[in-house]
Amino acid sequence: MTLLVADRISKSFGGVRALNNVSFSVAEGEIVGLMGANGAGKTTLFSVIAGHNRPDIGEVSFDGVRINGLKPDRICRAGIARTFQIVRPFRGLTTLENVATAARFGARPAEKLAEANERALLILEEVGLLDVAHQPAAALTLASQKKLEVAKALATAPRLLLLDEVMAGLTPTEVRAMMTMVLEIRERYGLTLLVIEHVMRALMELSRHIVVLHHGEKIAEGSPAEIADNLDVQAAYLGGGPSAAGAAGT
Ligand SMILES: Nc1ncnc2c1ncn2[C@@H]1O[C@H](COP(=O)(O)OP(=O)(O)OP(=O)(O)O)[C@@H](O)[C@H]1O
Ligand SMILES: [Mg+2]
Repeated sequence: MTLLVADRISKSFGGVRALNNVSFSVAEGEIVGLMGANGAGKTTLFSVIAGHNRPDIGEVSFDGVRINGLKPDRICRAGIARTFQIVRPFRGLTTLENVATAARFGARPAEKLAEANERALLILEEVGLLDVAHQPAAALTLASQKKLEVAKALATAPRLLLLDEVMAGLTPTEVRAMMTMVLEIRERYGLTLLVIEHVMRALMELSRHIVVLHHGEKIAEGSPAEIADNLDVQAAYLGGGPSAAGAAGT
C-alpha cells in the first residue's frame, strides 16, 4: 500500500528554487532514502511534507488524504513526525520532560501527565537515553541530542517518521548504534521511514529505495545498487550535474 505520495512539488524562496516538480511515493513499511548534495532541497521537502512550508505547486497525500496546506500539528496528528537537522530540544527541560511533552501531542496524545511520562520512559529506554532522563536537554552530547530528536518524534506515535540527518556529526561507532536503534524502533512500532543522510554507507545500507535530489530536482531513484551506478548521480556528486554526465558519455 502506498502511504505517502508527493506529486509535482515545487517550492521557491525568493529567487531560489528549492524544489522543482518533485514526485515520489513511499510504500507502507518501506525505508526510503533521500540523498543529494548540500542545498539540494532535502530538508525543504521534509518541511513541505510535515507542513512547515507550503508547496507553491503540487500535492502531498498521506494514506490517501491530501495533507498539503494543513498545519504541522494536524499533519502530526495524522501520523507524520519529523526530526530536525538542527536539533531543537526545549533546552531548559530535562530529556524526560522533552519526550513527555511530545507525548501530549500527535496521533495518540497522552491525556494525563503520568501517562505521558510512562510512554516517554519507555521510549527513552528504547533509544538508549534512560541514563540521562533527568538531565537538562542542553547538557546532552550531540549523539544523545540526535537520539532525543528521534525520541520526541516517536512520542507522537507516528506511522511515517522523517529522519533529517540524525547521523550527521556522529563518530562511526555512534553511527552504527544509531542505525541499529533506527531499525529496532522501526520493527517495534511498524514504522515507515523516509531518511535524509549524508553518511552514504548508512543510507545505502538502510534503504531499499533511494531518491536523489540535485538543485531541487529529482535526478534519479532506484535501489542502492542502481543509484551507486547512476552516472547522473556520480556527476552531481563530483560537482557537475546531469548534463556533465551526458557530456562524459559522448
Ligand atoms: N526558509 C528559507 N528561506 C530561504 N531560502 C531557503 C529556506 N530554506 C531553504 N532555503 C534554500 O533552499 C535550498 C534548499 O535548501 P535545503 O535546506 O532544503 O537543502 P538540503 O538538501 O536540506 O541541504 P543540506 O544537505 O545542507 O541540509 C537552499 O538553496 C537553501 O538556501
Ligand atoms: Mg538539510
